[in-house]
This record gives sequence, C-alpha cells and structure tokens, in this order.
Amino acid sequence: MSGAYRQAWQDSMDQPRAFWAQAARAIDWTTAPAATWDDQAGWFPGGTLNTCYNAIDRHIAAGRGGALALIHDSPVTDTVCRFTYDQLGEEVGRVAAMLASLGVGRGDRVILYMPMIPETVFAMLACARLGAIHSVVFGGFAPLELAKRIDDAAPKLVLTASCGIEGTRTVAYKPMVDEALRLADHPVAHVLLLQRDRLGADLVPGRDLDWAVLRAATAHDPVPAPVAVASDDPLYVLYTSGTTGTPKGVVRENGGHAVALAWSMAHIFDIGAGDVFWAASDVGWVVGHSYIVYAPLLVGATTVLFEGKPVGTPDAGTFWRVIARHGVKCLFTAPTAIRAIRKEDPDAALLHAIGTGPCRAIFLAGERADPDTIGWLETHSGLPVIDHWWQTELGWPATATCLGLGDRRRLRGSAGFPVPGYRFAVLDETGVPVPAGTSGAVVIAAPLPPGAFRTLWNNPVAYARNFAAFPGWYETGDAGFIDDQGFVHIMGRTDDIINVAGHRLSTGQMEQIVAATPGVAECAVIGADDAIKGMIPVAYVVPRADMRDHAALHHAVIASVRRELGAVAALKTAFIVPALPKTRSGKTLRNLLRKIANGEDTPIPPTIEDPAVPAQIIAAMRQTAQA
Ligand code: COA
Ligand code: AMP
Repeated sequence: MSGAYRQAWQDSMDQPRAFWAQAARAIDWTTAPAATWDDQAGWFPGGTLNTCYNAIDRHIAAGRGGALALIHDSPVTDTVCRFTYDQLGEEVGRVAAMLASLGVGRGDRVILYMPMIPETVFAMLACARLGAIHSVVFGGFAPLELAKRIDDAAPKLVLTASCGIEGTRTVAYKPMVDEALRLADHPVAHVLLLQRDRLGADLVPGRDLDWAVLRAATAHDPVPAPVAVASDDPLYVLYTSGTTGTPKGVVRENGGHAVALAWSMAHIFDIGAGDVFWAASDVGWVVGHSYIVYAPLLVGATTVLFEGKPVGTPDAGTFWRVIARHGVKCLFTAPTAIRAIRKEDPDAALLHAIGTGPCRAIFLAGERADPDTIGWLETHSGLPVIDHWWQTELGWPATATCLGLGDRRRLRGSAGFPVPGYRFAVLDETGVPVPAGTSGAVVIAAPLPPGAFRTLWNNPVAYARNFAAFPGWYETGDAGFIDDQGFVHIMGRTDDIINVAGHRLSTGQMEQIVAATPGVAECAVIGADDAIKGMIPVAYVVPRADMRDHAALHHAVIASVRRELGAVAALKTAFIVPALPKTRSGKTLRNLLRKIANGEDTPIPPTIEDPAVPAQIIAAMRQTAQA
C-alpha cells in the first residue's frame, strides 16, 4: 500500500479542516475563507472567488497564456481546433460580454442545450465569470425533459446550437428547444443560437438571437471582470435522474468544487500544468463538467473536447488516434466505450497499430467495469486501467486508485479504495455495518467532503432524504461490499436507477411514460444486462383487453419513451405479456423479470401469486422474438 495514500486518507479523517485548508491553497481566493467548515455555511465560509478566474486568468497572469488549454477534436466534422489560455480567455471574455449585454449577472440561471463544441465550454466559463449559474442539459434528452429543467431552473436565457452531430446522424437541436419552450411555463427572455454549417435553424423574431450577430454587436464591449462570488454560491445546477419522473437539480458550489477538483487532478489522476487530459464523456454529464471543463483548466492542464463516438467516427481506432495525436497523458472514459471498441476490434489491431503515445493510465467510471473488459484493455494497452466510482451528487471520485499519491493497487471488479475525504461503510437494512465481504447499502459518512452537493435546487427536502435512512450517513443508492483488503466493490443500485451506456436513467420514470401510453393496462420497466451498454431498459407491457394490435402497441410504447424522455433512454425492447409476476400483496416481482430478461434460470419465488405467470411471459417473449 502506498504510504502517501494511507497518510493522506488518515489525515483527511483525523484533521479534515487542516487537510482541506491545505488543499484550498491551490485556489486563488479574492477573499480568503474565514474558516474551513461550518455546519451551516459549508466549506470555506467567508471565502470569495471566481472559478473562471481560477481556470483561466491566473494562468495567464503567471505567464502561461501561450500554453495549450483546449483542444477540440471532432472527427465528425473532420476538424481539430486548439486554444491557448490566452485564446480561451479571449473567447470566454467575448461570450461573457454577450451574456452581460443581455443582462445576465450574478445568480441568474442560463440553460445550455448544446453539442460538444468549444462554444459550449466558452459559455460555461462565461457564466462562471459573471457569477451566473449554468445548467447544461444533455442533448439526448427530449423537449419535455428540457422543459422540466427550464421550469425548475427558471433561466433568463437558453443557449443552443442549430444541431448536434451524433456519429453519422445530424440532430436538429433548435426544434427541440422551440418545443421545450412551448411546453414550459417559465418565460425565457432569449434563446441564443449558434448556427452550425451542417444544418441551419430558424430564429423566432424578438426572442431568438444569432450568436455570431450578437458577438459582432458586442465585439468592442469590455471583457467583464470576474465576479467574486461566495464560496457557497452555486456554480452550476446539473439535473440527474432520481427515482421519480422529476429530475434532481444537483447544486455545485464554487468554493468546494474548485478545491476538490484541483486536489483530485494532482492526487488521483497525477495531472498538473502542461499535461494533456482527456475525459471522453459529454459536457451534459457530471464527468464532462468536472473533467472536460473545470478540473483540467483549474490546474493549468490541457483538456480535450472530443466530438465523436468511440466507434464509427470513423472507426474503433479513433480513441487511440486522439491520444497519440495530442499526447494525452491520462484518458477517462466509460467501460461501455471500451466494450464498443472491443466488439469492432476484438484483437485490438488498431490499438496495436496506433499505440497509446505517452498515455500513462486509463480511468473508467459511469458504471461497473467488468473484469473481462479491464483485462482486455490492460493486456492490449499495457497501461493500468483504473475503475473509480462516483456520482453526480459527489462531483468527483469517491473511490479510486490514487495515482498521484503513489498508489498502484488494483483489483479487477473493484472500484478501488476510499479517496481521502470519504469514509465508507456498508450497512444492512437496520443500519448496522456488515462484515467485510458482505453486501449491503453503500454509505458515506456525513458531512461529505468539499465539492459534494449540499442541497438540491428548489428541493432541500429531497436532499435531506439522502441522509434520512441512515442518520450520519449519505445513502449513495448503490449496493456493494468492502473486501478484507479494503477494496470497495460497487455492484448495482438499490433503487430503480439504471446505467445505460454510462448514462444514468430511471426505470421508474420510463414506467410512468409507458403506463400512460394508450392501450397499456399495466407495465414494468427493468434494466437487463447488455454486452455493450452494460444495461438496457426492457419494458413488459400488459395490454388493455380492447388493445388487440400488439405490434402497434409495441411501437407506441417505444415511441412515447423516445418522445418524452429522449433518444438517450434507448428503450428498444417491449414485450407484450398477458400478466406481470406479482406477490400476493400486489408488488411486481421486478427482480424475477430482470432474471427472465437476462435468460437466467430462476426458481419461482414462493411469494408469487400466480406461479404460471413466468412461463407465460417467457412464451410471449419467444413469440415476440420469432415475430
Ligand atoms: N444529442 C442527441 N442525441 C444523442 C446524444 C446527444 N448528445 N447522445 C446520444 N444521443 C442519441 C444517440 O444518437 C442514440 O440515438 P439512436 O437511438 O437514434 O441511435 C441514442 O441517443 C442512444 O445513444 P447511446 O446510448 O450513446 O448509444 P449509441 O448506440 O449511439 O452509442 C456507445 C453507444 C457505447 C458508443 C456510446 O453510448 C458511448 O460512447 N458511450 C460512452 C458514454 C459516456 O462516455 N458516458 C459518460 C459517463 S463517463
Ligand atoms: P452519475 O450520477 O450519472 O455519475 O451516475 C452515478 C451512478 O453510476 C452511481 O451511483 C453508480 O450506480 C454508477 N457508477 C458510476 N461509476 C461506477 C463504477 N465505477 N462502478 C460501479 N457503478 C458506477
């Protein structure tokens, strides 16, 4: 075991205030914090700072304006653009001036529904500069989901682009924004639209503004100075799936976020100024916020913004090409991306031909990394492949192998050790810790370290629920165990959240949509195993007696989930079945359905009301497969 890792973790437990006060020195504060922690005000009370200043200006002031800050590598448009810190500062300044001209200021919300292009990063940082709160909505969500976020965040502005490019598909974003604004109650003053060459979009007169036109109109406006905000002022709100149809707005505070991310770059990922870091995620997810945008820039590193897919843009060698081309020192991606690459290139011929350049490690997160995928990647890349675990709520890794602290220990199937700042336990239903190796609810001691959420937007009650089941502990919603060596194993969720291709979705929400589809009497949506995406949603639908066209019902169910939740839901399979398996008290046996969907041999549970139902379901599934 690395002594440095053990010491750091112990220090973070024994003297958390001293530990995080030391970490906070990596950030330039406008006003130094009066304390490190306060039960009411949270981390670094009294401190003021600007996250954009810390991500850009201070590096320029230190003479590093010529260093590379951002590389946009876009195989889907066949372009690569590079921005030094000077150039990034200029671009962010221009967008900040544009937003300021529209009256955006401290505390205002701005929603971004944008693809993986540099302007998205500029806009996030421009909001941070003005003290405004951005809320990025992933492009794969449908208008209704965007509308829910608009109503909850009540933004002054929505920023969008005419289209996203998803592999070979061009996705028109603007019609989705128009539809979302039609569905939302909250009046948005303006939509700022970036026209892309691939596909243009119409502007609604009076409401919509053209990005390029506004940029030209404000070209001579001074760059707004970075606004000093309180440590606990929100930097952003990022919505994530809860267990209901209502998304949870995770609030990220400026101070704790900057401190935690800067600390994580050095001590977990071993990345500092001048290194090239690539998180192959999307800016719409927390990984994109933390490790495409903020963390690499906070430490003066170079970040890669990749607009493409692991396969098909143009082939399964694209990741290795990006690494080699830009000298990526550390790659962060989701296991599903590696599985997709492996499927296309099982012998890793492209990996061997292209190589991994100066890359030192590959980190995986977003879903459990199966040992087989890790084994394949380690064998062919010769690099350490590190599974690490975290959540939108936390904002940065909670378990990992801390490379920057000299740790190298890995165990395939485990997500590593608690990161300094995090104390874990595994509890049974009564809140009692279980012995090593025994599964239970994975919890983290409160208070959570800097960077982790301290409230949910407009919903402090739902926030408090995370700490209600096990007083003194944050309930992660994950199940797992800690083995006798201290490795943490995260095995799945305790609720109805599933991870589809590393995307967090709620089967409960899909179930609500399916249940409301005309012709559906009742339904259940479960997560079934998938060789590439890890999990995929599968619907079991009992038709109403008068609904005889089962093929039409199947299409209707799939179409309504895509329409209401979005393409990202990836619900492609719905089985029309005569009944659902239920207990005598009427509870649907979802676990049994999951096993049936996975083709597992499973004994009929004694609690089942009608033991004939599983066989009927299997017969109906066979019929669907044959059809
Ligand atoms: N905007 C609009 N639509 C989007 C989108 C976006 N930003 N992202 C995904 N979609 C659409 C896709 O085009 C697809 O639509 P389709 O059903 O019409 O084909 C649908 O949403 C599902 O997307 P996805 O789950 O990504 O499946 P895929 O088949 O397109 O790609 C993988 C599969 C494995 C290659 C891809 O999911 C991947 O790269 N995953 C890694 C995810 C990741 O990095 N997660 C972050 C956690 S660290
Ligand atoms: P998100 O909030 O989208 O980052 O999703 C968080 C959830 O993804 C976690 O609660 C886990 O269920 C799952 N997850 C993320 N990383 C891992 C991992 N390394 N191993 C297992 N599950 C993971």
